[in-house]
Amino acid sequence: MKIAIGNDHAAPELKKEIQAYLEEKGIEVENFGTDTADRCNYAEYAEKVAKSVAGGKADAGILICGTGLGMSMAANKVKGIRAAAVSEPVSARLSKEHNNANILCFGARIVGVEMAKAIVDAWLNAHFLGGRHQMRIDQITALEEKGSI
Ligand code: RB5
Repeated sequence: MKIAIGNDHAAPELKKEIQAYLEEKGIEVENFGTDTADRCNYAEYAEKVAKSVAGGKADAGILICGTGLGMSMAANKVKGIRAAAVSEPVSARLSKEHNNANILCFGARIVGVEMAKAIVDAWLNAHFLGGRHQMRIDQITALEEKGSI
């Protein structure tokens, strides 16, 4: 499994912790994020990770900013992306089981390292349930196809 990871200036340290945590599990990680606290713009990193996932170069993505919100909003503009911003493990699990989220987002100013690891574990260990949930995802995809107006 390969995960694309990205972050802005709010999260270089948490990104490093999560990257190492994933690599300890034998997961390949491609780092698209910044490694410094110099101010930058989250949408640029969201785009890189989202395009890697949508294009099939990575199996899934993780995006970390201050809150997880800006990253998820930006990533969800890329066709085929279902990015979920969460701050606890139950939502992380359900984002996979019900929504088949292919990018997980969280905030370094919201969750600590241990909570972030629990969120990642809940999401990685969950499986999409399909059935009625697939039909609802098909509706999201149809919205993408229709465009905004
Ligand atoms: C940066 O200050 C902050 O706005 C960003 O990391 C993120 O939280 C945006 O949603």
